[in-house]
Amino acid sequence: MIEVSALTVRFAGVTPLDDVTVAFPGGTCGLIGPNGAGKTTFFNVLSGFVRPAGGTIRCFGEDLLAMTDFRRARWGLRRTFQTEQAIEKLSVFDNVAMIHEHSSAKRATRRTDVLAAIELVGLDVSPRARVGELSAGARRLVEVARAVVGKPRVVLLDEPAAGLPQAETDHMSRLIRRIPEQVGALVVLVDHDMSLVQACCETTAVLDFGKLIASGPTAEVLRDENVIRAYLGTEEVE
Ligand SMILES: Nc1ncnc2c1ncn2[C@@H]1O[C@H](COP(=O)(O)OP(=O)(O)O)[C@@H](O)[C@H]1O
Ligand SMILES: [Mg+2]
Repeated sequence: MIEVSALTVRFAGVTPLDDVTVAFPGGTCGLIGPNGAGKTTFFNVLSGFVRPAGGTIRCFGEDLLAMTDFRRARWGLRRTFQTEQAIEKLSVFDNVAMIHEHSSAKRATRRTDVLAAIELVGLDVSPRARVGELSAGARRLVEVARAVVGKPRVVLLDEPAAGLPQAETDHMSRLIRRIPEQVGALVVLVDHDMSLVQACCETTAVLDFGKLIASGPTAEVLRDENVIRAYLGTEEVE
């Protein structure tokens, strides 16, 4: 459970998060909203890149904002970015192992943990393949493997399926749904693909211009008038 209370972020002239109070109860939770709504900023606050002007975040009872970003990683917070982070010149194995090294997972199980993460995401390439040689879809799976290796507690996925063809989006959808049970982590999924969010998330929260406009069971949230209005003219709610 992630409990966010009165979270506010201010940059010069913008308030990308404005007094947001919301809970992400567990399993896979959706976080949606039009472009510029504050979704990535929220992930940046969770991972420690952005310091909020006010508010609190408790993850499984712990005060997240009191931890340094280094400690958050060791505690078990992981994320993917809208731009890929894996190093092209290195192998799939080394790219995933590098994250394991900075987690609290035991060194002795590194090899098995890394191979398990590669298997979990369904990458059908050699762990020795260099990331730069992989297809766009396979690289996206490497990003997810880096986010799930070594028992994370919270996994933040920032538009993991953006730009992928339907078959690969379907693969990503099945993978995301397996993470809570097989990895034991709470997942927060940000994506613009409403069918993906509907397939993966029991609950969804909606941001619009930095404000929480709805949260609750996904089906109800996607029927909410305020949510439909926020998306009109910008995105489609299917
Ligand atoms: N480092 C920054 N400095 C100033 N403004 C920023 C910064 N990061 C994001 N913003 C602004 O905050 C708002 C929310 O952005 P973002 O969190 O990236 O939205 P989303 O991920 O929902 O599309 C936007 O108006 C964006 O321009
Ligand atoms: Mg974003």
